[in-house]
Amino acid sequence: MAGSELFPLSEEHESIRQAARNFAQKEIAPLAAEFDESGEFPIKTIMKMGELGFMGIEVPEEYGGAGMDTLAYVLALEEICKVDAAHGTIMSVNNSLFCNGIMKFGSEAQKQKYVLPVASGKAVGAYSLTEPMSGSDAGTMRSRAIRQGDDYILNGRKSWVTSGPVADYLVLFTMTDPEKKHRGITAFLRNSDKSGFVRGKKEPKLGIRASATSEILFEDYHCPIEDRLGEEGEGFKIAMAVLDAGRIGIAAQALGIAEAAYEASVAYAKEREAFGSKIGEFQGISFKIADMKTRIEASRLLVYNAALAKERGKKTGERFTQEAAMAKLFASETAMFAAHTAVQIHGGIGYSKELPVERYFRDAKITEIYEGTSEIQRLVISRTELGIR
Ligand code: CAA
Repeated sequence: MAGSELFPLSEEHESIRQAARNFAQKEIAPLAAEFDESGEFPIKTIMKMGELGFMGIEVPEEYGGAGMDTLAYVLALEEICKVDAAHGTIMSVNNSLFCNGIMKFGSEAQKQKYVLPVASGKAVGAYSLTEPMSGSDAGTMRSRAIRQGDDYILNGRKSWVTSGPVADYLVLFTMTDPEKKHRGITAFLRNSDKSGFVRGKKEPKLGIRASATSEILFEDYHCPIEDRLGEEGEGFKIAMAVLDAGRIGIAAQALGIAEAAYEASVAYAKEREAFGSKIGEFQGISFKIADMKTRIEASRLLVYNAALAKERGKKTGERFTQEAAMAKLFASETAMFAAHTAVQIHGGIGYSKELPVERYFRDAKITEIYEGTSEIQRLVISRTELGIR
């Protein structure tokens, strides 16, 4: 076992962590500020990450992935996000929301057709649940799929689709039977090059700016029955189960952002002088460092614990909803706390684009919102504890 703070890691886990760290520092760090400024999708680095297996870490090698476990995935994602959360968002959606969902619920033909190109870095995947009038209350969507012979005809508007402006394939959730409410939702796999698939307005965002986000419109889009994921009416449960995995990814992303903010703060507190001392010698600063460190290590335990729970679930079929929600809730609020504190410790220079600290601050916020807001995580956790449905 190789040593790692509070959580001992195997040689294999240390090696993927190191590989992701090297890649992030060598290939992403020099470009991160530029991509943040332009909002351009970093297609070249994303494709390189795919070639290295980072886009399908848990996907078996025969489907183009790295064939590793969930802990390997979170360790790699944490390292990427420590350097650039936008690359991490794209990586997280490809891994947990796209490949993971099809590996779990898809047919053999669907795995070959959709997982293989995305896991091997030749294509980009996306996941589309949200609609303009259906966010946290995900069971109330208005888009429709109507069966017509061996096809479904899809119409509707999806919003906040991560990688929407560039995605080749999409896992999409839509209503096939509105009277049944959430039990009338069905999942489909969509090709962006088919007619009736229209990319809509691109979102101008506060943070993770290089991870492009847009609306997707479906206008009489013909979807053959073999592209339905699971059975009719199973879509909501598929969406929720896939989000359980996704939330572990976002928790790892938050952990990476928090660590970046923390390391920048420690370095600055040791170097910057005021009133004749290094600022780290003042309790006003050193206690902030103590609180950041403690919350980060607590987040790490929750994130790695959730990864282990998901791994166990692969064998037992048990859900890891609670572990994922707790990890995402705590790690995302820690990322926001750490990034906010880092800007304060840096003072004026922390507010400037000359350092990446202000980017950590802008990037941290989304982790408290997407893949279920902090309020939704609290709802999920408390419902389980209180036995409320
Ligand atoms: N796994 C499997 N099944 C689940 C489940 C899970 N984690 N959670 C719920 N279910 C099942 C329930 O067992 C129930 O089944 P039955 O129909 O058999 O009774 C069914 O789903 C409905 O469950 P609830 O009654 O709990 O549903 P609800 O309407 O009260 O909603 C919710 C629950 C937790 C609030 C849910 O709507 C939710 O998670 N909302 C947030 C949505 C979200 O995270 N959106 C983010 C979109 S992705 C994104 O951010 C963009 C991106 O690209 C990154």
